This record gives sequence, structure tokens and C-alpha cells, in this order.
Amino acid sequence: MRPTRDQAWETLTRYTASESLRRHALAVEASVRFYARLYGEDEEFWGCVALLHDFDYEIHPTLDKHPQDGAPILREEGFPEELIEAALSHAEHLEMPRDTQLKKVLFACDELSGFVHACGLVRPTGIDGLEPKSVKKKLKQPSFAAAVNRDEVYRIRTGKNPLPRGTLDALCWKVQEGCAIFKSSVGSPSGTSAPRPCMAWWTTAFSPRRNSRRL
Ligand SMILES: [Fe+2]
Repeated sequence: MRPTRDQAWETLTRYTASESLRRHALAVEASVRFYARLYGEDEEFWGCVALLHDFDYEIHPTLDKHPQDGAPILREEGFPEELIEAALSHAEHLEMPRDTQLKKVLFACDELSGFVHACGLVRPTGIDGLEPKSVKKKLKQPSFAAAVNRDEVYRIRTGKNPLPRGTLDALCWKVQEGCAIFKSSVGSPSGTSAPRPCMAWWTTAFSPRRNSRRL
């Protein structure tokens, strides 16, 4: 079966009541979908992987169970192995090879999403108005949010398929958009209908010409 976003959202919200975990899922989804479109990949599928990568964290909050014990649940729910394998690969302790673009992107977006959130925590207005240049500056400060793996964040834009210039800026905006979507969806009647996905593709921040000097 090819999973749909509604199915992924339904599973996520059935296992996850925490607002911060739902917001994180949407932030990672927004940025992963951005890359799917950039690479001409299956945006819906990549988005489902992102939505579900931490779906079991609430019921399995320790690394001896998360995310590996979530895999049988996803299998039972009918999600394909490709999705399950990609979702599991974000966990460093499982030491699975990140041998596809999707796995690399998921890991980097997961890390960056957490990092952008951490940047917001030290600002009076949170992530509202947070500029990518501030995020990039903080990435260069090893002591800030030290647990975030900078190498993996940067790896997304190196290797065989370098990304267009300005991509890291766009990614920062995508994380914020995901969080904004979450904000606007809080208080929806059932809380289970999926908030709209991030549709804006070219953000004002993402202009290869304007950002021609560096990522
Ligand atoms: Fe995550």
C-alpha cells in the first residue's frame, strides 16, 4: 500500500498526544517535503516518513525501545517496509546505513528542526522572525545545542548532489513554516484531522540568485 498523509497523521496522533511532538513531526515533514520536491521525489511518501519517524516516542521514550519497537506497529498498520526502514534509520543507536537520499534528508531535517527550535528558546519571540542567518551563526558555535550533529546537517548540501545555493536558508524557513502550521492547527475541533501540509515551495528566502555567494 502507498501510504497517504491522512493515514500517517492518523497513526501519529493516535500514538502521540504531546503538542511538542506533533509540532516536531510537522516541522520535519515541512522540511523533508521541501527536499522531496527539490529532488523530484515522491513528496507524499517522504512526508509520511517524516510524520511517522518519532510516532512511538511517547509510548517508547527510551532508546532501548524507540524507534525499533515502533516498527512492528507500523507493519501491523500496513505501512510499507520502505517507509519503516527509512523511519528507523534516523536513530543513530541502530547504526543503520543512511544509504538513500531520503534517509540522509530525514536525519538532517530532524537535527535541524531540533536546532531551530533550540534557537527559538533563547529568543523572547521564539522562532517567530528568527532569521536563517542567526541559525547559521549558532550552528558555528559548537557549545550551543551541542547535541545537534552539525556534520549531518552540513552533509545534506555536500556529496554527489550538491544542493542549489540558498537551500539551508530555505530549510530554516520550512522548519518555521511547519511550526506555524502546527500553531494554526492547535485547537482544531477533533485534533485528529491533518493540518494542511506546507505548500509554499519558493519562499522569499529561497532565491538561488539572491543567495548566490554561499549556502
Ligand atoms: Fe525527530
